[in-house]
Amino acid sequence: MTTPDNEASWDALAGAYQEHVGWPDDELAWGWRTPPEAELGLVSDVVQGATTLVLGCGGGQDLVALARLGAGALTGLDVSSSQLEHARRRLDGAGVAADLVHADAADLDGLDADSFDLVVSVQALNYVDPLDRLFAGVRRVLSPGGTLAFSVMHPAEAATEDAPPWPWTGSYFGEQRDWVWDGLTEDELSFRSWFRSPAAWFTAVTDAGLVVERLLEPAPVPDRRWIERGWLDEDGYAKLDRVPATICLRARRPPGPS
Ligand SMILES: C[S@@+](CC[C@H](N)C(=O)[O-])C[C@H]1O[C@@H](n2cnc3c(N)ncnc32)[C@H](O)[C@@H]1O
Repeated sequence: MTTPDNEASWDALAGAYQEHVGWPDDELAWGWRTPPEAELGLVSDVVQGATTLVLGCGGGQDLVALARLGAGALTGLDVSSSQLEHARRRLDGAGVAADLVHADAADLDGLDADSFDLVVSVQALNYVDPLDRLFAGVRRVLSPGGTLAFSVMHPAEAATEDAPPWPWTGSYFGEQRDWVWDGLTEDELSFRSWFRSPAAWFTAVTDAGLVVERLLEPAPVPDRRWIERGWLDEDGYAKLDRVPATICLRARRPPGPS
């Protein structure tokens, strides 16, 4: 496998990804078989009118979903310009206004300090490293008292096979993994991901000076749309009755100046 270049691979994958496995935008979906926002309530008490930044906004689905939940001014940031082109088309089609920023989530220097009430990320931070730069940037751009809410893939989901008896093929503690996205494009597109434990996410967020309010490993909900959308096959769906799919975390920047 060639050394992964996440930006180049997402640029090359974007078209097929949006066509064949695009994320839902009818609701804020945190992960496959993970309770949606209407059940989880990770941002529902803070989203109304909130100036909101989405890290790794992809094709814009999460921005559209947040607009429907009543978010205020929206900004989407992504490392892939192709994904951002899809986001622009989706936002225009949905009549949702948002600024789109081409940047790495680990380098938020181009955004103003204290400028967002809410920072959201859905299944994107597994691609971001290093965490100290990511969360130092998030703390800087959050307004005092502002909220960070994100979901990532659980390392137990990443380290187990999708076929019964769902054996472990990697270490729970492996964190960094290079892998190939099979089947969506003819090219072999490789990615570098970091599958961190709930404790590692908690520690990184806390070390940045944010206060963790909720850390969740939600039990699966029955939702066969994840099979229909092409994210899971029957075996992968059944695995999630045994293995957590998603980590969700919510934290707050303490009130008061930095
Ligand atoms: C799985 S998608 C998440 C977006 C949406 N929730 C979805 O599932 O389609 C991951 C997104 O993160 C973006 N991404 C990967 N690495 C990134 C980085 N270092 N900084 C910002 N965005 C990144 C990718 O380009 C991609 O659009």
